[in-house]
Amino acid sequence: EGHQNTNKLLTGKTVLVSAGPTREKIDPVRFFTNRSTGKMGFAIAEAAAELGADVVLVTGPTDQKTENKHISRIDVESAEDMYKAMHRFFPSSDIVIKAAAVADYRPKIVHNEKLKKQPGDWQFEMERTKDILKSLGEEKNHQFLVGFAAETTNPIEYGLAKLKKKNLDAIVINNVAQEGAGFGGDTNIVTYINASNKQENIAIASKRNVAKQLINFIHRDMKDDKQ
Ligand code: CTP
Ligand code: CA
Repeated sequence: EGHQNTNKLLTGKTVLVSAGPTREKIDPVRFFTNRSTGKMGFAIAEAAAELGADVVLVTGPTDQKTENKHISRIDVESAEDMYKAMHRFFPSSDIVIKAAAVADYRPKIVHNEKLKKQPGDWQFEMERTKDILKSLGEEKNHQFLVGFAAETTNPIEYGLAKLKKKNLDAIVINNVAQEGAGFGGDTNIVTYINASNKQENIAIASKRNVAKQLINFIHRDMKDDKQ
């Protein structure tokens, strides 16, 4: 089942998007997570589908919903689950946009029984999760790979470092310290930078509108790739 209409910007393209937070279990009743709500990733999935793409949306736990029949939604919980799902769909994707806020650390031991509280403090060890985006950058062949960067200081400098280190085609830098940007809200303010260091500042707008502008820049840069 593809789109009937054949004259849209992303007709014939498969777009893989990741959205939302991850949850890293401590025991059956506790987990670590972050402030991501999934709104930006869902807005990107919707915008791509409206532009004719077939979309696979891999999402961590979120209240977001989508009715679009060109979006197939894959629900995951942990960073490890998201890693597996992203690698499963990566080979058949044309554009991959990694908007998810993946946990960088997880508890080293996951307890099968609920931990009982003890007198005094609690200490436990955390280990690194896999960097999903970096692993996709290493595997990349034909895909146009887009990462996000959430920063509170030196956003451009840190974002550019991620673009290079993870072998991306573009990065969307989110200065989450700004009013109107980042986690939770209905708006965002981002800077899109491609691999040729061309920078586009997207002024405060709804996440839906930001998503449409991002797709336009991605489409422009994909065409440049082929010339
Ligand atoms: N990312 C990922 N897997 C991880 C951590 C991050 O795929 N384990 C991806 C995110 O989805 C995002 C990009 O990497 O697209 C940047 O995430 P961010 O948290 O800003 O950067 P990190 O590389 O994790 O570095 P730090 O948190 O130290 O700034
Ligand atoms: Ca991180």
